[in-house]
Amino acid sequence: MTLSIHFLAFEVDLYTFASMILLTGGTGLVGAHLLLRLIENGEKVRATYRNKKGITKTKNLFSYYKKEALFNNIEWKQADITKITQLEEAFIGIEYVYHCAGLISFQPSDENLLRKTNIEGTANIVNFCLAHNIKKLCYVSSVAALGDLAEHEHIVTEEIEWNPEKPHSDYAISKYGAEMEIWRGQQEGLKSVIINPGIILGPGFNDQGSGLLYQRVAHGMHFYTTGITGFIAVPDVVKIAIQLMKSPIINQRYTLVSQNSSYQEVLNSMSDALGVKRPSIHAKKWLLEIAWKIDKLSSFLFRSKRKMTKYMARASYTDRIFSNEKIKADLKISFIDIHQYLKEIAKV
Ligand SMILES: NC(=O)c1ccc[n+]([C@@H]2O[C@H](COP(=O)([O-])OP(=O)(O)OC[C@H]3O[C@@H](n4cnc5c(N)ncnc54)[C@H](OP(=O)(O)O)[C@@H]3O)[C@@H](O)[C@H]2O)c1
Repeated sequence: MTLSIHFLAFEVDLYTFASMILLTGGTGLVGAHLLLRLIENGEKVRATYRNKKGITKTKNLFSYYKKEALFNNIEWKQADITKITQLEEAFIGIEYVYHCAGLISFQPSDENLLRKTNIEGTANIVNFCLAHNIKKLCYVSSVAALGDLAEHEHIVTEEIEWNPEKPHSDYAISKYGAEMEIWRGQQEGLKSVIINPGIILGPGFNDQGSGLLYQRVAHGMHFYTTGITGFIAVPDVVKIAIQLMKSPIINQRYTLVSQNSSYQEVLNSMSDALGVKRPSIHAKKWLLEIAWKIDKLSSFLFRSKRKMTKYMARASYTDRIFSNEKIKADLKISFIDIHQYLKEIAKV
């Protein structure tokens, strides 16, 4: 009995080690953390990058975790997901794909780039997965792509329907459009899972994506808002993505939120962890509504980037509460407390 269990376990390991994995977005917060965990697990991974500067960020992250020695085990391939010829080479010999590349932006001027990167880029990944008989794809979507609550509903689940009549940010539309490409792939026989994380907290990438929040707090933030949204620590995203990929689960989407928390609570935890003053002025709804309009005008007059858009303002005073019951039931997992995690990552 013991022998056969060991033998089975050995077979599973052998199978895992023999599989070649493609990971897109190896130079981002999620991709770099996922890369580290996969490489630690002894997997063979080819990761995509667009420029060498991006690779340096991933290398620094490996150093942050004192895992420099593992960095050289990554096979890097330069590939923009919107460029077919580059993807062609990236897919050679691949069996499993983690698609983490994507653009996070709330700049109205990025509308076309968001659609191109997130929708067209994901369509390309799906097409290559189908053409190369990829065994399974894991797509990193977002809670932004989940549906819209009806009057009588209060908690966002995976089942809530997207209402095209409701206002959505360009980012949300692009992530929803990307999911439609994954669903199309499923119809054509591609086995896949979609994860929909809330705001992801993690170290190493403070000049992009969700890391910008950390950077702003570090530089001293005066205003806080009381809207509620879902947050998750990056190690939990990575753990779940790998478990889903290895599980027999296919063609499902999962909300990944460890806690629903107010921006105020998270900003306070970040400030305390970083040893800076907590934001003390409550930016109320009316103030935020004025702020985004002034910002729009000043961006038009001075040709500057937007600091506050309509969607950013509204998200910061709106409560959007997410259920994580589905992933908890299917994977029997527990989550890291985000407030505790913020303290831990500030220590290093
Ligand atoms: N961070 C969050 O809070 C959060 C929450 C929910 C969902 N997500 C989703 O999770 C995914 C990863 O996010 P992240 O936090 O890791 O973002 P990130 O740190 O900004 O990294 C984005 C990654 O995508 C790559 N990328 C962007 N455009 C590309 C293109 N055209 N071709 C190839 N690669 C491209 C970037 O490469 P470069 O280094 O070359 O720019 C980078 O590696 C995204 O799809 C995002 O929508 C993130």
